[in-house]
Amino acid sequence: MSYEPYDCIDVGSEFCPCHLAETGDCILCSQLAGKDFCDCSNWNGVCIYQEYASNNYKARDGRKYYSCKIVQKNKFEDNVIIFTVEASDKLVSELVHAGSYVFVRRPDTDTSFDAPISIMDTDTRNNTITIAIELKGVKTKALDVLKPGEELLVKAPFWNGILGLKNIYKIKNSKCLIVARGIGQAPMIPPLKHLHANDNEIIVVLDNSPYKNSFVNEYLEKYASKIIQCNTICRGKITEEFNNVLKDLISNNDISLVHCDAADILNYELMKAVEDIDKNIKYSCCNNAKMCCGEGVCGCCTRKNNDRKLRRLCKMQTEPKYVLEGRRIF
Ligand SMILES: Cc1cc2nc3c(=O)[nH]c(=O)nc-3n(C[C@H](O)[C@H](O)[C@H](O)COP(=O)(O)OP(=O)(O)OC[C@H]3O[C@@H](n4cnc5c(N)ncnc54)[C@H](O)[C@@H]3O)c2cc1C
Ligand code: FES
Repeated sequence: MSYEPYDCIDVGSEFCPCHLAETGDCILCSQLAGKDFCDCSNWNGVCIYQEYASNNYKARDGRKYYSCKIVQKNKFEDNVIIFTVEASDKLVSELVHAGSYVFVRRPDTDTSFDAPISIMDTDTRNNTITIAIELKGVKTKALDVLKPGEELLVKAPFWNGILGLKNIYKIKNSKCLIVARGIGQAPMIPPLKHLHANDNEIIVVLDNSPYKNSFVNEYLEKYASKIIQCNTICRGKITEEFNNVLKDLISNNDISLVHCDAADILNYELMKAVEDIDKNIKYSCCNNAKMCCGEGVCGCCTRKNNDRKLRRLCKMQTEPKYVLEGRRIF
C-alpha cells in the first residue's frame, strides 16, 4: 500500500492535546509519540507539542455529557426512531459539519450504553439536532422508551463519522454521486447539504432496504438534482442493476466525487467499482468502526490491516482505501 497521508480529526480543536499525548501515543506529533525529534510531515498550522507545553504538559478535558430535552420523536416503519433534541447554540454549531456524530444514552443507564449516532440535521435557529436511530440491540432499544419532554444524555461533539472528509470539503461546482442504503440515509444529509451549498450538482442513488420507504424524502427533494431508487447489493456483491446505473452515471455525467453511506461491504465494493471505471474520481464513505469512547482511549475502534499499522479510527482521518483494503469485511 502507498504512503498514507492522514490527520487527527481533533488537531487544533479545544480537545487537543488529548490523553494520547500524555502517554506518548499521539497519532500526529512525533515528540508526543516517544521520539526526540520533530517530524511534522502534515503540518496543520498548530504545534501539538507547543499546545501541550502551554497546558502544563497535561491533556485538555475531553467531551462532556449534556442533558438534552427531546422536543420531537417520530417512529419510521417498525424500528427507526427519529429524535429532535434541544442543545446549546455552541453545541449545535459544532455539529453542523459533515461527519459529525454524538454518543447518546438514556439518563438512567451507565456509560456502557453510549451509542455513536450520526447527526442527521441541525437547526441553528431553534438550537436543535436531529438523529435517526435503528433499533438493533441493547443500547438502541433502551432509547425507545423515551418520550418527548424527557431528557436524552448526549456526549459530543465528535467529527470523524466520515473517511475521506477532505474530498467532500474540496469539491466545488462539480457533479457528485451519493449512494445511501438503509439507515445510511441519516448520515447522508450533512454531506448532501454541504455539497449542495458549494454549488455541486448531486445525484443520489437510494437503496431503502431493509425499509419499504425513505425517511429523508424532504431533504432529497431540496438538495438532490436526481434520485435513482436501486437495489445496490446482494450476497456481498454489487447488483448488476447498480453496476449498470453506476457505469451510465459516471460515463455521462463527469462525476468528480462519489460518497457512500452504507455497511462496509458496500462502501468497499463501490470504492473498487468506481476505481475500475475512473481512478481520478474522489471517494468518501461513512466511518463504520465500533466506537465506545470516541476519545482514543477504549481501543474499540482500533484496526490493524495487512499492513500491520494500528489505526485508531475515532481519531484518524484518512482515505477510505487505507481502512477498507486489506481487511476482512465479511
Ligand atoms: C460514527 C458512527 C455513526 C453511527 N450513526 C448511526 C446512526 O445515525 N443511526 C444508527 O441507527 N446507527 C448508527 N451507528 C451504528 C450504531 O452505533 C449501532 O447500531 C449501535 O451502537 C448498536 O448498538 P446496540 O446495542 O443497539 O446493538 P448491538 O446488538 O450491540 O449491535 C448491533 C450492531 O451494531 C454494532 N455495534 C454495536 N455497538 C457498536 C458501537 N459502539 N459502535 C459501532 N457499532 C456498534 C454491532 O457490531 C452490530 O453490528 C453509527 C455508528 C458509528 C460508529
Ligand atoms: S472509540 Fe475508544 S479508542 Fe476510539
